[in-house]
Amino acid sequence: MIKILVIHGPNLDRLGTRETQIYGTDTLDDINMAIQEFAKDQKVEVKIVQSNHEGEIVDEIGKARDWADAIVINPAGYTHTSVAIRDAIASCSLPTVEVHLSNIYAREEFRHRSLVAPVAAGQITGFGLQSYLLGLRAAIEIVKKRE
Ligand code: DQA
Repeated sequence: MIKILVIHGPNLDRLGTRETQIYGTDTLDDINMAIQEFAKDQKVEVKIVQSNHEGEIVDEIGKARDWADAIVINPAGYTHTSVAIRDAIASCSLPTVEVHLSNIYAREEFRHRSLVAPVAAGQITGFGLQSYLLGLRAAIEIVKKRE
C-alpha cells in the first residue's frame, strides 16, 4: 500500500480561528478528517503530523525516507525562510508536493518566494482544504507512475 506523510507547518494548529478571512473556517481536525477520508477512498495510508518547530519538521522528513513513498507538505511560514526544510526535502529523495491553503502569489510579496518549490515535484496553492486533497492525488499519481 502506498504510504504518504502529510506535514502541517507552524500555526496551522490554529486554523478555524486564525485569520479566517484568509484561511477560512475549516479547523485542522476538519482538514485531517477530509485527508483520512480521501486516503481511505484511494486505498493509501497517510500519517499526518503538525509541528510549530522547524527541527521537528526536518526530523519527520528525514525519518520518512525509511517508510514513506511521498510527502505532502504545507510548510506554512517556513516556506519562505527555511533552508533546513528545503535541504531535508532535497536529501530525502521522496517526491514531495508543496501545498498552501491561500494563494501565496496573491498575497504579500514576501510570500511569493518559496524555498521549497524548487525541490518539490510541484506546488498547489489557493484552494483551501482542497489543496491538500489535490496534493495527495498528485503524490499518489507520481508514486504509481514510478512503481
Ligand atoms: C500558508 C501560506 C504561508 O505564507 C503562511 O505563512 C501560512 C499558511 C497557506 O497555507 O496558505 O502559515 O502556507
